[in-house]
Amino acid sequence: MTVKHLKILHQHNSSINQTFEKDGEDVIQGLTKKTKSLPPKYFYDDRGSELFEKICDLPEYYPTRTEAWILNEYADEIATITGSCELVELGSGSSTKTHFLLNAYQKAANLLTESIPDAFSYIPIDVSGGILKTSVLHLQQKYPDLSIEGLLGTYDEALLYLGKNHQRSRMIFFLGSSIGNFNAEECNDFLGRVSHALTKGDYFLLGIDLQKPKAILEAAYNDSQGVTAAFNLNMLSHLNWRFQGNFDLDLFTHQAIYNEIDHQIEMYLYARSPHQVSLDILDLKVQFETGESILTEISRKFDLETVKAQLRSQGLQTIKIWTDPQKWFGLVLCQV
Ligand code: AVJ
Repeated sequence: MTVKHLKILHQHNSSINQTFEKDGEDVIQGLTKKTKSLPPKYFYDDRGSELFEKICDLPEYYPTRTEAWILNEYADEIATITGSCELVELGSGSSTKTHFLLNAYQKAANLLTESIPDAFSYIPIDVSGGILKTSVLHLQQKYPDLSIEGLLGTYDEALLYLGKNHQRSRMIFFLGSSIGNFNAEECNDFLGRVSHALTKGDYFLLGIDLQKPKAILEAAYNDSQGVTAAFNLNMLSHLNWRFQGNFDLDLFTHQAIYNEIDHQIEMYLYARSPHQVSLDILDLKVQFETGESILTEISRKFDLETVKAQLRSQGLQTIKIWTDPQKWFGLVLCQV
């Protein structure tokens, strides 16, 4: 079986080229700063996406399970509030949690009296081609009535491609608290771009991880089986193949720390010894000292009032919030 409906939005082949920085420019920037960092999007090559799926099943990693519980409980209510609409998912990955929403929206589409073309439609967006293809094929089999168009690209590329022009009402959803990867400023810019891809009356559904004790958070990001460590280190292998680099994974260790002032998990890779790394395609040589760190990800933990205010500032009005009984995770539905 082949995937008919997969569009590649990759930066080096399309007309939207100019809008984006050169491939790898962000790596150069991050590794030449005084305190080194790398963008979390480089976690997700095919191997990285696989490792992330494993993280989601870890006993310590509560977010996926908790959000799935909320979706299972409230997907029907969400679909009832919004009615049938075009479903757009940012960072769809394996689309596992999406099934709760698809089941609910399939019912909503079936309730429509006149048959509207593409009444049941889904646009998954991901940077990892392997996982996107697999999940589109899987969804085509499971939901024969579903019209699917997968978009292979970054959030920015996809949001720009989607634009404002759509016939039916639209709901963009962004699950798993991936919004936590953005700092406050990036978060605002991102919400602005989401808002821009929606018209009045459209919806945005956002999953957010809520603030909780440090011990629970640090356990979730320093799991006992070392899957998160492998996931963090895999970013270096990704850079090796993508930019002809020679990172030696044995020369780095993983650690995640909860910063209680900024309410964010910070994922680091620490150099075990002094050494130099080169990335030939980027014409880059980087020196590491013992104990020097690379910040590979922040994962912010939110409080609901701040999130509501941020959404509001980008024209997104919160209409309902669902949480689990422990209030560990929140699902926010808002409308333009
Ligand atoms: C996919 C960004 C939501 O921040 O919890 C999991 C990624 N990193 N374990 C998160 C992640 C380490 C995850 N997000």
